[in-house]
Amino acid sequence: MKALVLSGGAGTRLRPITHTSAKQLVPVANKPILEFGLEAIRDAGVTDVGIIVGETQDEIRAHVGDGSQFDIDVTYIHQPEPLGLAHAVLTAADYLADDDFVMYLGDNLIAGGITDFVEQFRREPSAAQILLARVRDPERFGVAELDDAGHVVRLVEKPKEPVSDLALVGVYLFSSRILDASRSIEPSGRGELEITDAIQWLIDAGDPVQSTIVTGWWKDTGKLYDMLEANRIVLDSLEPRVSGSLDADSEVQGRVVVEEGAELINSHVRGPAIIGKNTRLENTFVGPYTSIYHSCEISDTEIEHSIVLEETVIRDISRIEDSLIGKQVTVGREPRKPRAYRLMLGDHSRIGLA
Ligand code: TTP
Repeated sequence: MKALVLSGGAGTRLRPITHTSAKQLVPVANKPILEFGLEAIRDAGVTDVGIIVGETQDEIRAHVGDGSQFDIDVTYIHQPEPLGLAHAVLTAADYLADDDFVMYLGDNLIAGGITDFVEQFRREPSAAQILLARVRDPERFGVAELDDAGHVVRLVEKPKEPVSDLALVGVYLFSSRILDASRSIEPSGRGELEITDAIQWLIDAGDPVQSTIVTGWWKDTGKLYDMLEANRIVLDSLEPRVSGSLDADSEVQGRVVVEEGAELINSHVRGPAIIGKNTRLENTFVGPYTSIYHSCEISDTEIEHSIVLEETVIRDISRIEDSLIGKQVTVGREPRKPRAYRLMLGDHSRIGLA
């Protein structure tokens, strides 16, 4: 069995971060999302991993390399345009050949990994096996309708009138029949080859399509609030550890990780939270559900329920909440008169002033 990890895409819902970076590499509890998926695949005993890459391919390649650091063997497959999940499958046709494979959306997180799911498919092979989760807002997802025996009878992409509350989770198991299906469908109204249409094609052709309902949490991190929620969930299970240094006026409370080389000066971190390598906090409060990545400098600031990416500088801001701040960003005050907001913001930036 092989794996196909989808790490292309446009990431429009996470702009401006995705103007310059791959959303799959945004860290959750200081670990890039993609790494959770690669580890779950490896733990399920799959080591032959194809990664679909698009515009952000350089960054993904630089981060994952040949996969040896994750004990997997990676092949990169370039998708020139993000024309849909079934299009990504077709782009990987030569790589996949006749093998069964697990397809994993690179921006998804699943509690407890995928081992049981993969083993079930190995025991009971079918054309496709989908993972479903109950959601409160099915109109945001692809949803599945099951018959009384639990067989999948219909899939609908983002239904206006939901037929069920069972959303498709971003992990699928396929036989090579999905290639026939993907070749047979037409682009949807939004111009994409939809994987839901390909799976529906299998159902209509009489191929067996199985489903499993996940009971643990699952997150598609495509939007800011989903990203913050994923961060909360992962921080909640962090093993506390202080490897950096605290001066006599600093304190950490609760589930907190202070990574190597991090320095707290007259600062207070209330967990769950993580402070990355070589990050320096001075006269600062970091509140629950915050992840500060490596090599940041934060002073005279209060920040909570936020994710800050690497090498960012924040000075004298009280207070920041519910935020995702990119790499090498500077946020601060200026003594210069007249007192005013002086901004240099990328396209599609969003700021909310108090
Ligand atoms: P989506 O989140 O559905 O799409 P997107 O990344 O284009 O984001 P947005 O809707 O905000 O514009 O994609 C799920 C995953 O699959 C994600 O990791 C990107 C990847 N993907 C591809 O690799 N190729 C594709 O053609 C598409 C549509 C997505």
